[in-house]
Amino acid sequence: MSIGLSERAGAIAGSATMAVSARAAELRAAGNRVVSFGAGEPDFPTPGHIVEAAQRACADPVNHRYTSSAGLAELRRAVAESVLADTGLAIDKTDVLVTNGAKQAVYLACMVLLNPGDEALVPSPYWTTYPEAVRLTGATPVPVRSDPARDYKVTPEALDAHLTPRTKVLLFGSPANPTGTVYTPEEIRAIGDWAAQRGIWVISDEIYQHLLYDGAVAASMPVAAPGVRDQCIVIGGVSKTYAMTGWRVGWLYGPAGAVKAAVNLQSHMSSNVSNVAQAAAMAALRAGRPGFEDVLASYDRRRHLMVDILQGIRGVDCPTPTGAFYCFPSVKRLLTRSILGHSFASTAELATFVLDRVSVALLPGEAFGAPGCLRLSYALDDQSLQTGLERLQRLLSSQDLPRAHVH
Ligand SMILES: Cc1ncc(COP(=O)(O)O)c(C=O)c1O
Repeated sequence: MSIGLSERAGAIAGSATMAVSARAAELRAAGNRVVSFGAGEPDFPTPGHIVEAAQRACADPVNHRYTSSAGLAELRRAVAESVLADTGLAIDKTDVLVTNGAKQAVYLACMVLLNPGDEALVPSPYWTTYPEAVRLTGATPVPVRSDPARDYKVTPEALDAHLTPRTKVLLFGSPANPTGTVYTPEEIRAIGDWAAQRGIWVISDEIYQHLLYDGAVAASMPVAAPGVRDQCIVIGGVSKTYAMTGWRVGWLYGPAGAVKAAVNLQSHMSSNVSNVAQAAAMAALRAGRPGFEDVLASYDRRRHLMVDILQGIRGVDCPTPTGAFYCFPSVKRLLTRSILGHSFASTAELATFVLDRVSVALLPGEAFGAPGCLRLSYALDDQSLQTGLERLQRLLSSQDLPRAHVH
């Protein structure tokens, strides 16, 4: 008799970013001022009117009880209205499911679409959760590589080259994590049309839809490619736009049958999302985005600072991202030489070295299916950003630094 864990548990990789996070925590505990470029979350507090709505919801006994698994009716309506306002797509509120963050929406979408043995195309570099969510269903993630010279974009031709009779789903995101790539509406239309013609479902992760720079436009998949609408589940949420990562509210919407299946699944997994958090999300959507231009202007300033400094480091090639809040430079040329007598077989090793030497946390490209790259979030305050980038620049330019505490 075996007392082992399930095959499913064994198939899930621990987060490759955890090693860096754990080491960063150790260094902090030892008194180092660690600058972390790791976190994919806004450094701004959740706006006051949202917090106040949550406080009011806390005091209302109606929110002390279970509510509908699909989400509060008013929030589902607010999501449908914001989708219409933002994208022009008219959806029924009953085709919206409120989830515990967009992450759970990705997982639920995979669960209702994929069977064991199916394949899901995942453009790479990918958000580290996508292949794991696919694997949890017993299906196989199939990476479709893109390269920095083409802004990390995949094309219908590249997708076609990976198509097999088992391909069921394309997991697509624009603006993308980790690259910050934003596909044009025409490119999204081409990909959506391709999926419609081939009979492939699209899970379109649009959580970064409002984080755009340089005039980039975030087209929504079912709007750019109406032909794919009946086989497209869209993912969204409040985490990134409204600085609400800790509140855990996301959603999915799509064809009624798929959404109903996802509601059924959620009803047994987690019942409803916290009512207080849903009330907060409702306040966020209802109030629009007051002050958001200032937030975007801050990200934009930080984006320029980061790209300029990274581009100035010999051996670093950093495309200019036009969405989200990440840079994803290639350091392949850097890996071919040694720094302070050290050489590196992977960006994981390089990230550990950088953390140990100058207390700067970076995420290794391996976690995103892109060895030779690093992910840096610029969603941190200007002072930390400047300090961290200067430390990085000095180290990677190989000037000797004291190994002891960096303040
Ligand atoms: C592409 C992408 N989708 C979804 C999420 C999940 O967001 P949430 O905090 O709503 O679960 C993230 C968070 O990093 C993300 O980068």
